[in-house]
Amino acid sequence: MFSHRTDWKLTPNRFTQAQEELRAAGREILDLTISNPTRAELHYDAEAILQALVNPKALDYDPQPKGLLSAREAVAAYYRRQHDDVDAESIILTTSTSEGYSYLFRLLCNVEDEILVPKPSYPLFEFLADLQDVKLVPYPLLYDHGWQIDCPSLYKAVNHRTRAVVVVHPNNPTGSFVAEEERTALNNFCREYKLSLIADEVFLDYAHDGAPRPTFAANQDVLTFTLSGVSKISGLPQMKLAWIVTSGPAEAVSAALARMEVIADTYLSMNAPVQLAAPALLEQRHSIQPLLLDRVRANLNELDRALAKQKTCCRLDVEGGWYAVLRVPVTQSDEDLAIQILRKLSVLVHPGHFYDFSGDGHLIVSLITPTQDFHKGIAQVLGLLNQKEGNH
Ligand SMILES: Cc1ncc(COP(=O)(O)O)c(C=O)c1O
Repeated sequence: MFSHRTDWKLTPNRFTQAQEELRAAGREILDLTISNPTRAELHYDAEAILQALVNPKALDYDPQPKGLLSAREAVAAYYRRQHDDVDAESIILTTSTSEGYSYLFRLLCNVEDEILVPKPSYPLFEFLADLQDVKLVPYPLLYDHGWQIDCPSLYKAVNHRTRAVVVVHPNNPTGSFVAEEERTALNNFCREYKLSLIADEVFLDYAHDGAPRPTFAANQDVLTFTLSGVSKISGLPQMKLAWIVTSGPAEAVSAALARMEVIADTYLSMNAPVQLAAPALLEQRHSIQPLLLDRVRANLNELDRALAKQKTCCRLDVEGGWYAVLRVPVTQSDEDLAIQILRKLSVLVHPGHFYDFSGDGHLIVSLITPTQDFHKGIAQVLGLLNQKEGNH
């Protein structure tokens, strides 16, 4: 009765099962994986956000496939102010970055065509690809005093079915930005094989050192699609306002935009109140980004302080984003370790394999966790891991 693409294993995995068991038993879980900023005890300007949604113009229906010009201009103004010049006409609004990915997979790929994606990275890619009948081919990021794209592996992975390369800038959860020389190498690679570049920049504004990194939205060398949205930029995932910026050689850009406009016109998924509120929602970044960056830096400092007191675990270098990767002794699979931490301590951390790390020995924690919880949870996790090591 159902399509093969929806033949997912729907039973909860062991890690989810363990969480359900604990919750059913009434145990309170200390969650070090929080990625929802609206549940991270941050102060939002509730009045400004809610007022922005009450606009009499929302009583009019003005179906614009690319999204209302006023909203696209607000996105262009964000780039101009914070990053680089972007033309509002090159922007298409979507409800989420995930929807943006699905438009792009539809635009670029026939059934079974391939997209190169970084590994480790963000776990939602698999489902997005399944739904669009696209095959993901991983290219590794290697860790050696910081993360690097393994450029030779791109050349090994490419074939006649490859349509695009995805970069996540900075990547989730490794927190690594695409370096300037990597950008040049990616452009050369895409030009050589006539591929598009898809740049996911949802965490672009969260460089821990505060130094702005260049956006791909201004990349002119090859056909480039840059994805972002207010979900991370303004810490407002519930508003469902995201976008795709198209840049590159003029002819390719206008052909891509004309086709994407038809895809967007088919769904017309943007709603009026949120589009009309776009300038105000984007404005919120000025207050929420400093709070999030303060939180991230405070938690990272605390993590380093706790790690300095022991020798069993360390963390990997991180440049941006909301996560940290802990390197822990490999005595069992990451999933078993995360389950053990959950059962023994009621502390939730993510196993590295959620993000497709190539080997065991990685745990992921969210740096936007409320600071007190983070301190407490990290102390407990490191305590347990050091005790285990002592027992070996
Ligand atoms: C790298 C990356 N891209 C995209 C998203 C999803 O963004 P959106 O809420 O706009 O779909 C996330 C969410 O965590 C993410 O980590």
